[in-house]
Formats: sequence, structure tokens, C-alpha cells
Amino acid sequence: WVLMKTAQTPTNIAVIKYWGKRDETLILPVNDSISVTLDPAHLCTTTTVAVSPAFQQDRMWLNGKEISLSGGRYQNCLREIRKRAREVEDKKKGIKIEKEDWEKLHLHIASYNNFPTAAGLASSAAGFACLVFALAKLMNVEEDESQLSAIARQGSGSACRSLFGGFVKWIMGKEEDGSDSLAVQLVDEKHWDDLFIIIAVVSSRQKETSSTSGMRESVETSLLLQHRAKEVVPKRTLQMEEAIENRDFASFAKLTCADSNQFHAVCLDTSPPIFYMNDTSHRIISHVEKWNRSEGSPQVAYTFDAGPNAVLIARDRKAAAQLLKRLLFSFPPNFDTDLDSYIIGDKTI
Ligand code: DP6
Repeated sequence: WVLMKTAQTPTNIAVIKYWGKRDETLILPVNDSISVTLDPAHLCTTTTVAVSPAFQQDRMWLNGKEISLSGGRYQNCLREIRKRAREVEDKKKGIKIEKEDWEKLHLHIASYNNFPTAAGLASSAAGFACLVFALAKLMNVEEDESQLSAIARQGSGSACRSLFGGFVKWIMGKEEDGSDSLAVQLVDEKHWDDLFIIIAVVSSRQKETSSTSGMRESVETSLLLQHRAKEVVPKRTLQMEEAIENRDFASFAKLTCADSNQFHAVCLDTSPPIFYMNDTSHRIISHVEKWNRSEGSPQVAYTFDAGPNAVLIARDRKAAAQLLKRLLFSFPPNFDTDLDSYIIGDKTI
């Protein structure tokens, strides 16, 4: 017999960035972060997990290719979720799995991303969140989303924020064992549903410096990171929570852009410096800044993760439609730039 479960998890985009760990194994961050979860229809991971007495070992396929599960991150997630597994019974199929059986049974896992892996589009975020959620369903785990987020966190930090929709905060926590470093939902997806998210895929090539090694180098060498984590983010997080609560787009946009720019400044302050954005990314920033200034109040916020792709958050449908027109006019795909394509997150205009 085989027992299977499938889950689908969207990716999330940080508006207050996580950059830097205080514990590399448990994946504990140096500051709180806040993100918005995208609509699963556009950027998501779908994962099927299966268990059978016929399976000889744990195995996993990512986008159809088998990958190794020997890395500590997978092992940590699998171990933590197995610890919480409970009895499962499927009367129709005549299957009964006792709590203790989960330690002996092996898993097969198949995961698909509907967007480029490791191109700075937070694929690991959706990936680990989806894996943990699917396994929790298969194993009848009782823990709530926040508790599951603390397991997903051990796969990839940003993954803990993908277990909720809407706006989500990853609380850095204080405990050494990481038990209080978990995600909470600030507001659900209905709270601010005027927002439109457009992702301009500047390049879908794999990034040169992974987030993991990039943030390690920043922690070791950047003084700006220390200042950011201690002085800037604590205040900014409170202001961001207030802006989200009040649907105050002007403050939201100001904070989002400032935080993205500071994160990339930390990357430049790292030795050797890390460049995630390219000329096209910089031109997009200038373009949005100019447009926002000419309108008198911000229409669009931009944010860039560990890659050159722009995540553009428009205040409403009208601003999003105008933004798309502007992008296509200023960066036509056959123009002298490598702006490949546009992914419309959230909703269709
Ligand atoms: C720039 O979560 O990919 O996207 O915890 O080492 O797996 P690991 O890093 P990861 O880093 C994400 C960094 C970021 C900012 C963010 O999502 O908050």
C-alpha cells in the first residue's frame, strides 16, 4: 500500500528583510522580518509526499530530478516532523500506521516549482513550507501553523513565513533552542486586497551567491548589518506593522523601498561586496522613484531579494496597469536589456 498527501504553498516576499543568522544550524535570525504571501495561483510549490512499507529509503525529486536528502536542513525538518507524527488510519484502504511506525517507514517526496529555482524568487521559502505542511498532513501532526513554521524555518529561514497568507511576521525570538523563533500572521489576505504584485523577471539565471553564504559573509564582515539589526529594524518593524494595519500605502511604500535598499547596502558593505542587483534593477528603481515623486504620493513600492528581479507592489489595479504599461514602454523585451518577462503575482489585471 501507499498513502499520499499533496499540498500547495505560495512563496512570500519580504518587505522587511531577513539577512543574517545568529545560529546557523537552527536558522535563527538577527532581526524580525515581515513578508507578504503571494497568491498560490502564480508562484508556488506543489509537493506530494508518500509513505509505503515498500520504500527502502527517504527519497526526493525536485522538478522531476532526484536530489540528495543528506543535507542537514532536510534531515532536521524530517526529524522534527517525525517526532510529532501521530497514529494514522485509513479504514477504506485498511491501513493503520502506529505512532512509532513513522520512525521506521520511509518517505518519497516529489516537489514542483512553477517558477525558476534559485533565481532570487524565494523558491526555498515555498519549498520547505510546502514540504513541512504536506508531511504534517500525512502524519496527522496536531501542531498549528506557527509551530509548523518553526520546523520549516530549519529548512530555510524565509520558509517559516509561507505557512500563512496575507502579511506575516517572523519573530526572531530570544531562546537559544529556537522555540520562540516562529511566524505569526499579522493580517489575512482579505485585509488589504487592493494591492497588486508584479514581478519583473530581470534574469531567471541562478544567482551567483546564495542567500545562505551571502548572509554568513555579511554577518562576519558588515558593520552596517549590526547597526541595521539593532537600531533600524526594530523600529521599522513597528512602523511597518502600523502601516499594514492602517492600509497606509504611502508609509508602506517608503518603508518597503528603504528596507530593500538597506539590505542591498549591507550586501555592498560585505567583504568582498555582494552584488545582487544589476543595471536593469537600478533603472527600475530610478523609474519607480521618479514616477512616485511626479504623482505626489507613492503608486508603487519596489523590493529586491537576493537577485536582480524586481518585486513591484502597486497600490491598486489602476496603478498596476499603469506600471505594466510603463515597464513595457521603458523596458521593451527586445530593447537593450535582459528583462525577460513579467510574472503577475496576486491577481490578473
Ligand atoms: C533576501 O531564507 O533563502 O530573501 O535561511 O539560509 O535558507 P536561508 O536563507 P533564505 O534567505 C532569504 C533572504 C531574503 C530576505 C527574506 O526573504 O527575508
